Amino acid sequence: MEPWRHGLLLALLLGWAVDGWAGTVLTIITPGPQSHMFGMKKITLEMAARGHKVAFLAAEKDAERLRPTDVNVMSYPVRPWKGQTATGSIQLAGPHSLIATVAQYQPIAGNSCDSLLDNASVMAQIQDFGAELLLGTSMFPCVNILASRLDLPFVNYFGASPIEPFLTSLWRGSNRRFFTSNPLSYVPQMEQDFATQYLSLAQRLQNFVKYWQTHLFDYLYVRPGVLKTYRQHGIDLDTPRERRRMVLTLCIADFAIEWLRPMPPDFKMIGPVLPEPAQPLPANLEEFMAGAGEEGVLYIAMGTVATLGLKERQAMAAAFAQLPVRVLWRLSKSEVPDESSIAELNLGNNTKVATWLPQNDVLGHPRTRAFLSHCGANSLYEAAYHGVPIAALPFFGDQPGNAGQAVARGMAVPVRHSDIGTEAFPAALAELLGNGSYAAAARSISVKLRARKRTPVQEAVDWIEHALATGGKAYLRTPEHDLPLFVLWSLDVWAIFLVSAALVIYIFSKLTQLIAYALSRSLENGAAKKAA
Ligand SMILES: *[C@@H]1O[C@H](CO)[C@@H](O)[C@H](O)[C@H]1NC(C)=O
Ligand SMILES: *[C@@H]1O[C@H](CO)[C@@H](O)[C@H](O)[C@H]1NC(C)=O
Ligand SMILES: *[C@@H]1O[C@H](CO)[C@@H](O)[C@H](O)[C@H]1NC(C)=O
Repeated sequence: MEPWRHGLLLALLLGWAVDGWAGTVLTIITPGPQSHMFGMKKITLEMAARGHKVAFLAAEKDAERLRPTDVNVMSYPVRPWKGQTATGSIQLAGPHSLIATVAQYQPIAGNSCDSLLDNASVMAQIQDFGAELLLGTSMFPCVNILASRLDLPFVNYFGASPIEPFLTSLWRGSNRRFFTSNPLSYVPQMEQDFATQYLSLAQRLQNFVKYWQTHLFDYLYVRPGVLKTYRQHGIDLDTPRERRRMVLTLCIADFAIEWLRPMPPDFKMIGPVLPEPAQPLPANLEEFMAGAGEEGVLYIAMGTVATLGLKERQAMAAAFAQLPVRVLWRLSKSEVPDESSIAELNLGNNTKVATWLPQNDVLGHPRTRAFLSHCGANSLYEAAYHGVPIAALPFFGDQPGNAGQAVARGMAVPVRHSDIGTEAFPAALAELLGNGSYAAAARSISVKLRARKRTPVQEAVDWIEHALATGGKAYLRTPEHDLPLFVLWSLDVWAIFLVSAALVIYIFSKLTQLIAYALSRSLENGAAKKAA
C-alpha cells in the first residue's frame, strides 16, 4: 500500500473514532426518587467529559435540583394537579404497600408527562437538540412515549435491585415478564424480606403466592392506567418496533449483594453509581464527628420518600439518647420544618438533627460506625461501599427485599416498625454496635464492590457508547419478548409430546391386547386339538 493510503486509512479510522463516538444523548429526568436523578446526572456528566453532546430534560423543580451544571437543562413547568405540589414530589408516611405507592405515583407521572408533551416550545427545543439516543428510566411511561415520538432508541437506567415482577406494566405496558430470569425456587420476590436464597418449602409457597399476587394487582390496578396513558398518546408498546426501542438496561445493583441468578444479555449490572470516595465534611459537621471519639457515630436517614410519624420519632430519639455513641439524624423538611418541631423530639445530648447531609461523605467518614436506614438501593450500596453495617428498617417497594439481602450478607440487623418504642429497638442497635461481625461483613462487601478496573459510571458510559456505535439496535434482546406465550412455555411442544405419548401407549396396549388374544386363541386351539 502506498504511504498516503496508510495516512488516509488512519485519518478515516481516527475520524470515525472521534466523530463516530461523539454522540448526542438526551437524559430524561423523571419525577420520583431523587436518587435516580443523581445517578443519571453522574453518568451524563461523564458523557460530557468524554466529548459527547448531552442535555437534561426535566420538570422545572427537578431542573433546579440539577443545577448548577455546565450541561444544558431543558425544563418545562408541571401543571398543578389535584392539590398536589407542582413538584410532583411524593411523601409516604410509615410502611406502605407497593400498590399504594404506584397508585400515588402514576397520576403524578402522567400529569408531568402531559405537561411536557403538550408544551410545543419545549418539544421544539428537544427536536432541535437532535438526540440520537435517550437515557431515561422506563418506569416513567413518558420515556417510552418520548422515544416513540422522536423515533429514537433509549438506554434504560434502573436504580433498584432487579426484582420481578417490579411493576411489569409500568415498564412495558404489557404483562410480559420484563427483564430477568426469575426462578421462584431461589429468587425472593418483591416485598419478601427473606435473608437467604435457600428457601424452605413455606418460604417458596409464600414466594409463589407473592409473585402471582403482585402480578394480579399489577394487572388490575397498574396496567389499565398505564395503557390509558400510552393510548392517549397513540402508542402501542406491544408492537415489535416499540419493543425494540429499549436497547439496554443499566442496573445499579452488584452481585456482591444482589441475589445470584442468570441475567439476559441486554441487562447490564454496572454496580452502584452514587458511592464514591468521601470528601471532607463541612466544618461544623466534622467537629461533631471528630468529637465522637473512638465510640463513633450512628447515622440515621430514611431516604427522600419515606417519613416517620411524630410518636415514632420521639420513641427513636429516646432510644438514641441511651446509646454510648453520637447520633447524626437526617430528617426531612416536612418532618422538622422549624426549631420547635426539633424541640418536640426531646433529643438526647448526643444527638444532632439536620435536614440535609452529604450522605456519601458521612458514610465514608472514619468515625461513622453504623447506619440506621430504610434500605433504599442507593443507601444500601453507599453503606456497603464504605463498609458501614446497617440496622435495616425498610418501608415499601424494593426496600424489604434490599433489607433481606443485607441481612443475608451478614452486614445488617433487621428492625421492624413495630419494634420502635419497645425494647427490641435499642437492643437491635446495641447488637449492631456491639457485635463486630456486621462491620466485618460490610468491609468484605466493600472490597468486592471496589475491586474493579472501571467504576460503575465509566462502565455505564462505555455501554452507552456501545449503543451509539451500534446504531441503537436492540441486538442483545432475547427472543422471549417476541414469542407468543404458548411458544415461550413450549406448550405446543408439550401438547404434541403428550398426545404422541398417549398414542404410543394406546397403540401399545391395543397391540398387547391383540397378541394376548391371538396367543389365547392359539392356546385354545392347541388344547382343543389335544382333547380331540
Ligand atoms: C412550556 O415550557 C416553557 C419553557 O419552560 C415555558 O416557558 C412555557 O410557559 C411552557 N408553556 C406552557 C403552555 O406551559
Ligand atoms: C448527656 O446525657 C446523659 C444521659 O442522658 C447524661 O448522663 C450526661 O451527663 C449528659 N451529658 C451532658 C454533657 O449533659
Ligand atoms: C455476632 O453476630 C453473629 C451473626 O448474627 C452471630 O453468629 C454471633 O454469635 C454474634 N456474636 C456474639 C458474640 O454475639
